[in-house]
Amino acid sequence: MMNKNSKIYVAGHRGLVGSALERCLKKNGYENIVAKSSAELDLTNQSAVDEFFYAEKPEYVFLAAAKVGGILANLSYPAEFIYKNIAIGTNVVHAAMKYGTKKLINFGSSCIYPRLAPQPMKEDCLLTSELESTNEAYAVAKIAILKLCRYYNQQYGTNFISVMPTNQYGENDNFNMETAHALPMLMRRFHLAKLLQKNDFSGLKNDLKKYPPGFGLDENAENSESVANAVGAYRDKVVVWGDGSSRREFMNSDDLADACVYLMKNKNYKDIGEFVNITSGTDILLKDLVEIIKKIVGFEGVVEYDVTKPHGTPRKLMDTSKIRSLGWEPKISLRDGIKKFYEWYLK
Ligand SMILES: NC(=O)c1ccc[n+]([C@@H]2O[C@H](COP(=O)([O-])OP(=O)(O)OC[C@H]3O[C@@H](n4cnc5c(N)ncnc54)[C@H](OP(=O)(O)O)[C@@H]3O)[C@@H](O)[C@H]2O)c1
Repeated sequence: MMNKNSKIYVAGHRGLVGSALERCLKKNGYENIVAKSSAELDLTNQSAVDEFFYAEKPEYVFLAAAKVGGILANLSYPAEFIYKNIAIGTNVVHAAMKYGTKKLINFGSSCIYPRLAPQPMKEDCLLTSELESTNEAYAVAKIAILKLCRYYNQQYGTNFISVMPTNQYGENDNFNMETAHALPMLMRRFHLAKLLQKNDFSGLKNDLKKYPPGFGLDENAENSESVANAVGAYRDKVVVWGDGSSRREFMNSDDLADACVYLMKNKNYKDIGEFVNITSGTDILLKDLVEIIKKIVGFEGVVEYDVTKPHGTPRKLMDTSKIRSLGWEPKISLRDGIKKFYEWYLK
């Protein structure tokens, strides 16, 4: 069983999920953590991964390194998404088997499920009908690696677990307004509007410098108000894409990390089967989410819904029964999680 001296490798430790895992492990007294940035160790390079595992022989591995991105990136670079994610997955999983890793947790995502999967999506609806075409390349790579883990367990007796987390938000999130996920994007938009409302132009300039806005906008532009306007933040209103009627689930990455450390410590792949959803099983109307964020950020103006913009599928929710039956449940409410997230952002 994983103990305080066990050697643990967190792949992708600078990312949203990997950094939450590292924080959670340290908070729980696990200090023997190995971590490398992609510049130090390119996980698509098979011989480099082999050398690293030969030298370090990590006992426990969290495989949270991946090429990830939003819908635009997925549509523009499908070859990179399928190649890099299959390469990272096969290299790490194979080296873990070869050098005796005791347990590995592999991260998939909810996009592995069919486009029209019944809601809430249960683990057993995997591969029952066609995938969403916009991120098929990414989903196929994720499915390939979860099957790889399953068949390595079957043939080599390894203990490799796959988890499918719901949408995450939290520290070290992506705030590029072109590629970010909904929650960090909305939070930043309200924050920029609040700065405008308070005539805090130095705050606005600093924010734009810290996190480039995307869309080819100049983060150093003299007229920072027009840059904020271009991403939907005005001094009297915030523009939100879609009509706010779709429902989504969001989980704080510290909750996901808590679930994964719990599984790593207490469960084996035999308890879990092929994979398990990490989800609270409750979603929220986007309109309600917008109001929560507006209140937490403290913006006083109005919200304008731009219904000419796309808003995605009406509902996407994962079933929570399996993870709950394994003895874990989420601890961070959406309101508390966003509050904590905004406090971190302000720092
Ligand atoms: N975010 C979500 O909402 C969400 C939801 C469900 C599942 N997941 C899954 O969780 C995993 C992590 O996602 P994330 O949101 O944390 O992504 P992220 O913030 O983009 O972090 C990914 C990390 O992977 C590393 N990486 C990428 N390519 C690499 C390479 N060739 N070699 C070594 N390292 C490489 C990067 O390292 P450097 O920083 O050093 O370049 C980066 O820190 C993914 O498998 C994703 O599918 C995420």
